[in-house]
Amino acid sequence: MSTQNTAPATEAARETTRTQHLRRYLMCRPEHFTVSYTINPWMVPANPTDTDAALRQWQVLHDTYLALGHEVELIDPVEGLPDMVYTANGGFLIDGIAYGPKFRFQERAGEAVPFIEWFRANGFDTREPVEVNEGEGDFLLVGDVILAGTGFRSTGDSHREIGDVFGREVVSLTLTDPRFYHLDTALAVLDPVQGVSNGGPERANIAYLPSAFDPRSQAILAERFPEAIHVSDEDGSVFGLNSSSDGYNVIISPRAKGFEKQLLERGYNPVLVDLSELLLGGGGIKCCTLELRGA
Ligand code: ARG
Repeated sequence: MSTQNTAPATEAARETTRTQHLRRYLMCRPEHFTVSYTINPWMVPANPTDTDAALRQWQVLHDTYLALGHEVELIDPVEGLPDMVYTANGGFLIDGIAYGPKFRFQERAGEAVPFIEWFRANGFDTREPVEVNEGEGDFLLVGDVILAGTGFRSTGDSHREIGDVFGREVVSLTLTDPRFYHLDTALAVLDPVQGVSNGGPERANIAYLPSAFDPRSQAILAERFPEAIHVSDEDGSVFGLNSSSDGYNVIISPRAKGFEKQLLERGYNPVLVDLSELLLGGGGIKCCTLELRGA
């Protein structure tokens, strides 16, 4: 299922046609959201959180997906698991196979069972992991390849395991800046499947913050994605890259001004959704979104 959109304004954009692909997502209402522990540099328990504000902001994201034509499934929030709203960490799914999470920190360990049970109950061929991994927070599908992050959360061994589970090429990337501790905080997939540019085929494209990666990973990304958007540290540090693209609409933080402009220049349609309250837990738009890729 896809619809064609003619992109707006600028010269380059006018020549580019982007294609929206409809998706199915898993989300979790932040009913129990708070910051009561610190497992990333954004989390400061002394700073007050407002659960109602988190719920309101989350609802806008949820309703935006529906308005764009996507499907959203919900998993029940569990009391005492304030980070469960970040469903991206709950697994990684391709072709109806769900690879479950094994959280790095004890504080989130309790989320694994509810996510794995949800995948089973919803008909996914569910695989329990041996290795520590935090799902789509660290694994991103781009074209046929899985980009896999390590350095802070998911281990290198999980990269091998995920390659075995899905039988796909896995490209390991090492994160080095503690602010960007999951791959999805430093890199966004813009065209998960082949896009079309100027009437011809184009490689699946990404946006990323080069300085969040070690030199080896930067070289790999530069070689594989010569057309990638490089975002500024300024946009990266408001979680601008923690965004969600359907190939045409890219939901981003309203604070990521430079990234918004870069997207428009490439013919994408930036859609602004503010999740500032959820950033207090070190998460944004992508963190609250898990893609359910069916069989
Ligand atoms: N507080 C959560 C943690 O540190 C935030 C998770 C953000 N998720 C993401 N996909 N980047 O684990």
